Amino acid sequence: MEENKVLDEVKEVAEDTAKEVKDAAENAAAEVAEAAEKTAEEIKDTADVPASEQDGKAAPEYVLEIDDLYVEYDTEDALVKAVNGLNLKLRHGETVGLVGETGAGKTTTALSILRLVPDPPGVIKSGSIKVEGQNVMELSEAAMQEIRGNDVAMIFQDPMTALNPVFTVGEQIAETIRLHTDCTKDEADEKAGDMLEVVGIPRARGNEFPHQFSGGMKQRVVIAIALACNPKLLIADEPTTALDVTIQAQVLDIMRGLKDQFNTSMIMITHDLGIVAETCDSVAIIYAGRIVEYGTLVDVFKHTLHPYTEGLFNSLPNIHNRTAKLKPIKGLMCDPSNLPVGCPFADRCNYVTDACKEKLPEQRYVSDTHYVCCTAYDDPNFRLERSKENG
Ligand SMILES: Nc1ncnc2c1ncn2[C@@H]1O[C@H](COP(=O)(O)OP(=O)(O)O)[C@@H](O)[C@H]1O
Ligand code: SF4
Ligand SMILES: [Mg+2]
Repeated sequence: MEENKVLDEVKEVAEDTAKEVKDAAENAAAEVAEAAEKTAEEIKDTADVPASEQDGKAAPEYVLEIDDLYVEYDTEDALVKAVNGLNLKLRHGETVGLVGETGAGKTTTALSILRLVPDPPGVIKSGSIKVEGQNVMELSEAAMQEIRGNDVAMIFQDPMTALNPVFTVGEQIAETIRLHTDCTKDEADEKAGDMLEVVGIPRARGNEFPHQFSGGMKQRVVIAIALACNPKLLIADEPTTALDVTIQAQVLDIMRGLKDQFNTSMIMITHDLGIVAETCDSVAIIYAGRIVEYGTLVDVFKHTLHPYTEGLFNSLPNIHNRTAKLKPIKGLMCDPSNLPVGCPFADRCNYVTDACKEKLPEQRYVSDTHYVCCTAYDDPNFRLERSKENG
């Protein structure tokens, strides 16, 4: 159907990649499925019961609530306004795709949740971040240490930054387990072996060092470390960007499977809409440190509202016409040390009017699940080209 054309295209791009490695991925998945199921059950059994449940109160509805977050980097050269009034909520078991160009503030947002923004020069200026109802801004450093790894774990783009070259991978997984759970060294070693199997690595290889592993294997080790303590929230910051496309599909496959088994909530940070189509329930499009469109996968892919989101879709390769020219978004993202008064996308937007430059567009809900920050939506005649084409 014409209406589904763009969604289908995006899905096919993702499927194309996935197909190329389907066999390899299936083999890997089959090998680990049995071990994973067993270990997942064990870990679920031993996972701590949330304090709120212990004293009979209902658990908070959201695992994460970010409210009006502002983060700046005060450098010698400039005051960089990296995050500018960001809101994001995430339910238990839900995966949100945080999508935007380099410099949009994705990593800064992720680091803020863990209170790991490098300070100096980074400063969380205002806003609140609640993990399971607890405002992390108000916690002591000791309490934050508890949350990191235990409640919230993060996977970085480059696995080498997360692994220590002088310890074996088994030691590194066991160390995380010992830090966050009350167990003996033997128990931690045993569980580290289980976690390796969960991500499709034979437990005997736990005695090897990171340099003996390929890029994809290293990233699986990082995933094993991140999931070792069964976090409630996993933040994956471009987890497959540094990997070959074939390995990417395998790693994503493993992450998806594990997330379902452990019912972990996840923020999937990426600039790749194909990955979003494959892994996410909801999508948050970020531009200049603010969410400019948010909705379910269907909302954002089929009923695109923001001109920037449209631009992201238009710049995807057209798999039906491989020779078709890409339509990149013109210009560059605005300078975060010199943000305009009005819409930060105005200089690049095909629909810009004078009104857009007067004030920052407000968040406008068009349904219970879908909002956009764009002044043009005050004009009843406004419609994106993409929506016109799709009827
Ligand atoms: N340590 C830092 N010092 C100064 N500026 C920084 C630092 N880290 C990030 N920034 C700036 O903050 C903005 C947002 O960066 P970042 O959060 O890394 O975006 P993304 O992950 O979307 O690429 C960018 O302009 C970037 O240059
Ligand atoms: S507010 Fe105006 S400039 Fe900004 S995205 Fe909407 S139409 Fe474009
Ligand atoms: Mg980043």
